Amino acid sequence: MPSITTVSLVRTVPSGSPTVDDFKVSSEPASTKESLKDGEILVRTLYLSCDPYMRSRLTGRTDSYVASFEAGKPLSGSGVGVIEASASPKFKEGAIVAGADFPWKTAFTAPTNGFIEVPMPGAAQPVSVLGVLGMPSFTAYVGIVTLCQVKPGETILVSAASGAVGQMVVQLAKARGLRVIATAGSDEKVQFVKDLGADVAFNYKTAGDYEAAIRKAAPDGFDIYFDNVGGEFLDAVLKCIRPNGRIAECGMISQYNATKETAYGIRNLSYVVTSKITIHGFIVRDYYTTPAYLAFIKEVSALLKENRLQYKLDEVVGLENAPQGLLDLFEGKNFGKRVIKVTSRAERL
Ligand SMILES: NC(=O)c1ccc[n+]([C@@H]2O[C@H](COP(=O)([O-])OP(=O)(O)OC[C@H]3O[C@@H](n4cnc5c(N)ncnc54)[C@H](OP(=O)(O)O)[C@@H]3O)[C@@H](O)[C@H]2O)c1
Repeated sequence: MPSITTVSLVRTVPSGSPTVDDFKVSSEPASTKESLKDGEILVRTLYLSCDPYMRSRLTGRTDSYVASFEAGKPLSGSGVGVIEASASPKFKEGAIVAGADFPWKTAFTAPTNGFIEVPMPGAAQPVSVLGVLGMPSFTAYVGIVTLCQVKPGETILVSAASGAVGQMVVQLAKARGLRVIATAGSDEKVQFVKDLGADVAFNYKTAGDYEAAIRKAAPDGFDIYFDNVGGEFLDAVLKCIRPNGRIAECGMISQYNATKETAYGIRNLSYVVTSKITIHGFIVRDYYTTPAYLAFIKEVSALLKENRLQYKLDEVVGLENAPQGLLDLFEGKNFGKRVIKVTSRAERL
């Protein structure tokens, strides 16, 4: 009898660094076509996304914009899969579907709401839904275009530049005629972002004093900071950004595993006043129903067609490796957009 694998949360981790022991990988019999109720679909998972925001879903917090995972229940997140069997007129067997709440299971049955069919023309790959056209790419677009309204000739600084969001910030900013200064956590990542078009890039882990490193990389200053890391690096940026600077406050990954004792307290907040800095905090999910989403798809599709866009994926194979795949993000062990390859398109249950 075919079986499926599930990844569940064992216990919530309010602060500090979660470990793989906080997750459980288990097996159970697979649902069958015959067991589908009217209106249900049987989905085999192809890819799942690992994203830093999922750290907040491990905390048990109830005051976040996104619900926490519950102990004893499967994790979930963005995913893409194939319809193995359908008892709904909405999706046919073989269709590729995507959703923001795929359970971390190799296969599952569900009602059809929450899933959309993704057309797969020509050589299109299902993983692109999580990659170049995925949520992190749109996040880059919203931050630099919708909120910071960047202009040609301006200079932007971006942290975690080789990651899922960062690599798109670098390329969209270059495509719009900006000068790009980028940081990343290894020399290999630094080379990658330079190859993507960054004008200057440095390894923040070996650069020493952040303020000195930023001033060296941007002797004439910079207009926009796309923040992915928060903490001490953001603190240094506040001192260095030009007057009237804008910050896309996208994320603060350096603080996600912090405890009360290790959380970094920003010291240079007064520069927000004296340098008249605008900080745009945002959550990308608020923008899917705005014109920005179609504008993003249009711009990215055009750049892809012209071969002016690359997107580096970092695939971990096997759902059983997903807990470590997620935890790697908080140590910079991913290189590019981290996805879990769960099953391949040609497999069957
Ligand atoms: N606001 C929104 O709606 C939204 C949406 C998506 C993502 N985000 C945020 O955007 C940021 C980037 O997300 P992503 O999906 O693109 O992840 P990612 O960059 O693909 O992966 C996380 C990267 O963060 C860096 N990092 C990890 N720990 C760090 C630390 N202590 N200090 C500095 N850097 C650290 C590492 O890169 P290095 O090796 O370069 O250090 C790591 O590879 C995150 O803060 C995330 O929460 C926000």
